[in-house]
Amino acid sequence: MNSQTPILDHFQRPLRDLRLSVTDKCNFRCPYCMPKEVFGDEHKFSPKSEILSFEEIIRLCGIFVAGGVEKIRVTGGEPLIRKDITELIAVLSRLDGLKDLSLTTNGWLLAEKVEDLRRAGLKRITVSLDSLDNEVFGRMNGQGHGVGRVLEGIEAARRAGLSPIKINVVIRRGENLKSILDIAEHFRGTGIIPRYIEFMDVGTRNDWNMSQVVPSAEVVETIAARWPLEPLVPNYSGEVASRYRYADGQGEIGVISSISSPFCRSCTRARLTTSGQLVKCLFAPGGTSLRDMLRAGADDKEILRAITDLWTGRQDRYSEERTSNTPLKERPKIEMYQVGG
Ligand code: GTP
Ligand code: 5AD
Ligand code: SF4
Ligand code: SF4
Repeated sequence: MNSQTPILDHFQRPLRDLRLSVTDKCNFRCPYCMPKEVFGDEHKFSPKSEILSFEEIIRLCGIFVAGGVEKIRVTGGEPLIRKDITELIAVLSRLDGLKDLSLTTNGWLLAEKVEDLRRAGLKRITVSLDSLDNEVFGRMNGQGHGVGRVLEGIEAARRAGLSPIKINVVIRRGENLKSILDIAEHFRGTGIIPRYIEFMDVGTRNDWNMSQVVPSAEVVETIAARWPLEPLVPNYSGEVASRYRYADGQGEIGVISSISSPFCRSCTRARLTTSGQLVKCLFAPGGTSLRDMLRAGADDKEILRAITDLWTGRQDRYSEERTSNTPLKERPKIEMYQVGG
C-alpha cells in the first residue's frame, strides 16, 4: 500500500525509486568498478552476517513501498550471483503497490537463470555490455571473458519474453569508442534498446578523468551521421536516459548524461546497500544503517519514520555540483559495487 502523500526531500523530490543491491560480489572485475589489483582472489567481501538476509530485504522493501516507492531495481555487485535471487524476485514482484521491478546484470549467468526469473515475475531487464569485440570486452570486464555468453544471455531473455531489454554501454575514450556504432548496428531492428552512459567519477578507484568522458552529444552525432535519429519524449518524468528513435523505424537508443547534463533535479532514487545502508546519492560518502535498526528490534513504523527523516533532509545533488572538469576528489565516496549504479 502506498502512502498518499509522497515523502519529499529538501528540494521537493519525492522518494519513488529504490535501487537495491543484493550482493557486493561480482564475477567480473571491470577496472572502472572492481579493479583486479584491489579486488584480488584474497579480497574479503562482506561476511554473511553483515549482509541483509532474504527476510530483511523483503521487510525493508515492503516499508519503502509503504513510504511511496513505486519502482525497485535489483542490482549488485552482480545480482544473479545471489543464490536466492529467483525467490527474491518472486516475492518482490508481488509486493502490493510496487508498479515496476527490474534488474541490472552483467549477463554472465543470464542464459541459465532468465527463464526462472521470468516465471518468478520479472518482466524486463537491463544487461551491461561495453563492447562486441572480445579483446576489448575481455579488458573491460577484467577477466578476459568473451562476449558470446553475454549475447546468449540477452537472446535467452528475448526468448523468455522479457521486454523491454535494455543494454547499458559505458563509453570510455581510448577504450571502446568503436562500441558506439558496433552496438547500435547489432541491436538495430531487434527491439532491444542500447543506452550509452557517460563514464562517471563514481567511487574512488576508477582513475576517472574528464578526458575519458565521451559526451552524449558526440554519441548521438556519431550514430545520427550513419542512421538519422529523432528525439523522443521521456517515458516518464525524471527518466535518466534521453531517448532517440531511428528515423527509419528500426528502434531506439538512449543516452545517459550524468556528466554533460546532470539530472539531479528530478532524482527520486534511494539506494539500499547489501549491508542495509540507506544511501541518498550515488556519490554519497556513505549511508545510514537500517539493518542495525531492524536487528535492534525496531518496528516497521519506526523504520519508516527513520527513512522519512533521512529523505526529508536530503540535499544531495552531486552531479550538479561537480564542476565540468574536476571531480570532487576530496570527498569520500561510496563504491559503485556497493550501490550498483
Ligand atoms: P529505466 O528504469 O529502464 O528507465 O532505467 P534506469 O535509468 O533506472 O536504468 P539503469 O538502472 O539501467 O541506469 C542506467 C545507468 O544510469 C546506471 O547504471 C548509472 O550508471 C546511471 N544512473 C542511474 N541512476 C543514476 C543516478 O541517480 N545518478 C547518476 N549519476 N547516474 C545514475
Ligand atoms: N561510469 C558509468 N557507468 C558505470 N557503471 C559502472 N561504473 C560506471 C562508471 N564509472 C555501469 C555499469 C553497469 C551499471 C550498473 O553501471 O557498466 O552498466
Ligand atoms: Fe561487476 Fe558491474 Fe562492477 Fe563490472 S560494473 S565489476 S559487472 S558490478
Ligand atoms: Fe541523484 Fe546523486 Fe545521481 Fe544527482 S548525482 S542524479 S542526486 S544519485
